[in-house]
Amino acid sequence: MTLSTIDENVPNEVLLQFIERERCARKQAEELLEQKSRELYLSNLELQQSTIALEKTAQRSKAVFDTAAEGIIIFEGDGSIECLNTAAKSIFGLHADGEVANICQLLPEAAFCKLDDQSCFVSNLKELTGANNEISGRRVDGSSVHLEFVVSTFSHGGISSHSGIVRDLTRRKALEAQLATAQKLESVGQLAAGIAHELNTPIQFVGDNTRFLQESFMAIEEILKHVDKILEEGQGNDAVRRVAQSVQEAYETFDLSFVREEIPLAIEQTLQGADNVARIVRAMKVFSHPGTKEYQEVDLNSSLDSTLTVCRNEWKYCAEVETHFCSNLPRIMCLPGELNQAFLNLIVNGAHAIQAKKKDTLGKITITTRREVDHIAIDIADNGTGIPLAIQNRIFDPFFTTKGVGKGTGQGLSISYSIVVEMHKGALTFDTVEGVGTTFHILLPMDPRDAKPGALKGQT
Ligand SMILES: Nc1ncnc2c1ncn2[C@@H]1O[C@H](COP(=O)(O)OP(=O)(O)OP(=O)(O)O)[C@@H](O)[C@H]1O
Ligand SMILES: [Mg+2]
Repeated sequence: MTLSTIDENVPNEVLLQFIERERCARKQAEELLEQKSRELYLSNLELQQSTIALEKTAQRSKAVFDTAAEGIIIFEGDGSIECLNTAAKSIFGLHADGEVANICQLLPEAAFCKLDDQSCFVSNLKELTGANNEISGRRVDGSSVHLEFVVSTFSHGGISSHSGIVRDLTRRKALEAQLATAQKLESVGQLAAGIAHELNTPIQFVGDNTRFLQESFMAIEEILKHVDKILEEGQGNDAVRRVAQSVQEAYETFDLSFVREEIPLAIEQTLQGADNVARIVRAMKVFSHPGTKEYQEVDLNSSLDSTLTVCRNEWKYCAEVETHFCSNLPRIMCLPGELNQAFLNLIVNGAHAIQAKKKDTLGKITITTRREVDHIAIDIADNGTGIPLAIQNRIFDPFFTTKGVGKGTGQGLSISYSIVVEMHKGALTFDTVEGVGTTFHILLPMDPRDAKPGALKGQT
């Protein structure tokens, strides 16, 4: 029965009962509707919260992916790249997504990249999974980069993909090489110090004995002159003339006039040679003195002199050296072994810059020391190539070099900077004119132990 079908004769109570039933039914329906709406609202709210949480997770994963210090490359079974992060782009010198389509273009030397057959590619990849493999990668500019590469495989939506973590080993390898060189140099230094010590005594004998021979020969020469005079003056006497003749024959047999001329020259040269060796031995002893890392009072003029002697071979074929040493330079407190190393780096750089200029005549390295009010100034100047403007702000960077393999490692200036500025609280700056030359200025406090860092600012 519905309202429209109600008969006019239906009694009122029945009608009222009917209305009451209708009201209850509507109320129930309304309550149900309200309950459902509430449920809907709650699940909607839950959905919203899950969406926000999901978005956050996605954003976090993306941020982790993008900012990871190691390069990450996601690629498929055939090597095609899905995506790579910022670190991977910078390792391979990529500027945009999609610049390189397949991982084989980045790792052409990896064994799995040399396989045409995809199943071999994947099974080969599996061998690399989890292991730290060292391989060579190729940057987009064609240069190669030494890498560590670790692969893992994951599946999403039934498809399996691979992620490769790449780490640039160039710096680590360079540091290992640097350490090996430093260790080698240290042992060579110790060896040199030992040899210098051993050479010191015999070379002193050679010098002293040669000087004795020189004096003795001068006496013999005087006697010979005396004999010559007697024989000449006694020419009127037959007996003397006979003696003179046999003496003359003996002179000729032994080529005495030649010997008398040559012996003083030979002695002179031997003395010069012995002096040179003695000077080199002294310089080697100063230079290769095992660094005690303790501050000592040092005369920098003689430090520079020793350094010039030790590296003479580096400059003598391309340059002459002029020194303007301040005659009353005060001794300063310093780490002599370290400072000698800095001087050596700057002198050798000067010689290299002169060689690079490829002139027929000798270049010039000029070293000046000055006494200033509260510090000492040293200038090491060369008339080599000069430093081009484009690289002037990079020369102190570790590993920055414009020299070929085997000639430079790009560490000389960064080491010198840390010796002068950090260890001695001094300043190291330069002036340069391209094609004309370069002067490095070193300022050193009298005692770095009570100097303020950065107090000496340098002049450029
Ligand atoms: N006196 C100079 N004249 C011209 N260029 C220089 C001079 N000194 C340094 N440079 C430039 O600065 C770069 C860095 O010098 P640094 O001494 O650090 O390294 P290197 O000489 O190349 O190698 P290393 O010193 O490790 O053997 C050099 O490669 C060169 O280009
Ligand atoms: Mg150098």
